[in-house]
Amino acid sequence: EKGSYAHYMLKEIDEQPIVIRRILEKYQGENEDILIDPNIRIGMNQADRIYIIAAGTSYHAGLVGKGYLEKLAGIPTEVHIASEFNYNMPLLSENPFFLFISQSGETADSRAVLVQIKRMGFPTMTITNVPGSTLSREADFTLPLYAGPEIAVASTKAYTAQLAVLALLAADIAIYKGLKLDFNFKQEMAIVANAIETLCDQKDRFRELSQEYFTNTRNAFFIGRSADYYVAMEGALKLKEISYIQAEGFAGGELKHGTIALIEDGTPVIALVTQNNVDGLIRGNVQEVVARGAHPMVISIEGQEEKGDTCTIPAVHEILSPLVSVVPLQLLAYYAALQRNCDVDKPRNLAKSVTVE
Ligand code: M6R
Repeated sequence: EKGSYAHYMLKEIDEQPIVIRRILEKYQGENEDILIDPNIRIGMNQADRIYIIAAGTSYHAGLVGKGYLEKLAGIPTEVHIASEFNYNMPLLSENPFFLFISQSGETADSRAVLVQIKRMGFPTMTITNVPGSTLSREADFTLPLYAGPEIAVASTKAYTAQLAVLALLAADIAIYKGLKLDFNFKQEMAIVANAIETLCDQKDRFRELSQEYFTNTRNAFFIGRSADYYVAMEGALKLKEISYIQAEGFAGGELKHGTIALIEDGTPVIALVTQNNVDGLIRGNVQEVVARGAHPMVISIEGQEEKGDTCTIPAVHEILSPLVSVVPLQLLAYYAALQRNCDVDKPRNLAKSVTVE
């Protein structure tokens, strides 16, 4: 039920802190350990490579998840678009483990890969919001998202839930392998939930920004480096699917290799600046587009902002920042769609779950 909300999308954006806290609770074992079927961590630890298969927003979550599995758990990971993988399969490693990410658990492109991989006899797991869905039933293991039903076509709370569960999974494997995490996972995730709440309380600000940047624009660009690049791709997808503004998310360093040709007077460029090691580089990219007339929106970290930055997100552990930095982008997309009188929850030409290849 939408309750007092005009749209499911806004309700689902607002539910994200609750969802993160619920995930922490559901996966909290006795003492401080994480509650995951031990066969999952054993299976994944035996793998020489993890292959993440997904589509759309779930693919974007997979890209962030790769960082978690490699940086926290130390397992090489590849991320593939399901519809591509199936008909252009890369050379596989000797002991692969397949991880399917799907909100609905019904995406036909992902299912087609699962069918093929099962035939090959490799271990499989699905991370999904719908236990009992096709992908969940057919894989060896399932990790539920506990996000509650997601009704809006634009995925929001499922994305942050996917990131939370992927981080939790990577942390669990790291602990199992005896690797030291340099942070208290539970504590840092609790800070993330609070940070999202803070942003959800600033809706007026994002509505104003949306009006300022997107009212009269044909296109918009989202840039970032490292993990911010993946969130930029997700921000662009959100904006395009519900507001029909042509939007592109790309790596800041790629600008000068072509895309910068598209920058004109007033072109909105939304830059995410949350990753320390590329801070100066992405700021340099912002200068480059400003010099060509772009209308920049710089989203940085509270306490690390520079003069002229448009808005900040509360500081969280750097590796978890995608869970927070996506929220302004979700809200910006929501208000852009609203201002353009688009059908926010049911954008044209799209279905909530894509059950044909
Ligand atoms: O149910 P799934 O996660 O497998 O769906 C994948 C995509 O169809 C989905 O994420 C789609 O891109 C959303 N509309 C994005 O908001």
